[in-house]
Amino acid sequence: MNKKFLVTGGAGFIGSAVVRHIINDTQDSVINLDKLTYAGNLESLESVENNPRYVFEKVDVCDAKALTRVFEQHQPDAVMHLAAESHVDRSIDGPAAFIETNIVGTYTLLEAARAYWNDLSDEKKLSFRFHHISTDEVYGDLEGTDDLFTETTPYSPSSPYSASKASSDHLVRAWLRTYGLPTIVTNCSNNYGPFHFPEKLIPLMILNALEGKKLPVYGNGMQIRDWLFVEDHARALYKIVTEGVVGETYNIGGHNEKANIEVVRTICGLLEELVPNKPAGLAKYEDLITYVTDRPGHDVRYAIDATKIGIELGWKPQETFESGIRKTVEWYLNNKKWWSRVLDGSYNRERLGTQ
Ligand SMILES: NC(=O)c1ccc[n+]([C@@H]2O[C@H](COP(=O)([O-])OP(=O)(O)OC[C@H]3O[C@@H](n4cnc5c(N)ncnc54)[C@H](O)[C@@H]3O)[C@@H](O)[C@H]2O)c1
Repeated sequence: MNKKFLVTGGAGFIGSAVVRHIINDTQDSVINLDKLTYAGNLESLESVENNPRYVFEKVDVCDAKALTRVFEQHQPDAVMHLAAESHVDRSIDGPAAFIETNIVGTYTLLEAARAYWNDLSDEKKLSFRFHHISTDEVYGDLEGTDDLFTETTPYSPSSPYSASKASSDHLVRAWLRTYGLPTIVTNCSNNYGPFHFPEKLIPLMILNALEGKKLPVYGNGMQIRDWLFVEDHARALYKIVTEGVVGETYNIGGHNEKANIEVVRTICGLLEELVPNKPAGLAKYEDLITYVTDRPGHDVRYAIDATKIGIELGWKPQETFESGIRKTVEWYLNNKKWWSRVLDGSYNRERLGTQ
């Protein structure tokens, strides 16, 4: 039977990939609930916005009254909770919004979902899911080169961002233990791909290089991340919300450990091939690389053991890092309209009728 998903943060990077996947590749419906912070961009959803199975609700996850109205009006079969403040650097400069949205917002959404769930029929109660989307950053970082994060690795968050996500994970698990709300938690590694906000490493490097601007790399560039193509993450999330077991945690990763400097060099190499016509005076894109003071508390290495989701749900990523990064660079080259409207700040304004 077709399902109706309440996706929070559906105008963000991963949320919009989830919404596009559900609308384009299944017969299910989506209510996209998003406050539209700077990170929310309805222009990432142009391909689905006129579909009758898609509806948008501009709502803050901290607004209990509005959430109650949305649950009553749309009667979702499941929640996929992605709304969050997500940028580590911003969490260091201003943690308050992270505490508010990631902790208080998750609590408020859990309470609205619980009140709605309590009134469902027994059958609907059983099949309802509250799927909380979290990060591998809750685990802190890894010392040994062979260590991996598993679903039982103890939490040890380093930044205000990861601490706020860790708090929200604990709340979600407590709402299952205490109230029986059928929850699932997923922790995923670094995502990359189309429609990524240009403050994040990969799009920032692509766009800076195209304009002949410096490519700032933190510290020595040896921080290792496990990279997952965003559309692989969206497919994993759909599989988990429809087939995952209540109370379980699933780690999602791409088996693609790369040092940041390696990622930047790969982007430079692809641009040499795809855009050989460089900005004036530039011999090689790599010449733009500059090392800058490291971020405080910067984790050295993250790496995910995604064995469980593979064995139990049969998911594996479709993209390798090589195929995914090529698709990503090509996407930015072919979608200048999307990112130039983000860079000049004009995105969303026309749609929302604001200046
Ligand atoms: N990007 C990654 O690499 C990554 C990796 C693992 C997990 N995650 C998690 O996945 C989720 C989505 O990440 P993303 O990269 O797409 O983030 P994003 O910053 O691109 O998008 C977040 C979305 O949430 C919305 N939002 C923010 N505050 C809100 C509020 N108070 N009420 C309603 N909506 C609000 C924003 O408008 C935006 O559309 C987050 O929970 C993040 O912690 C991200």
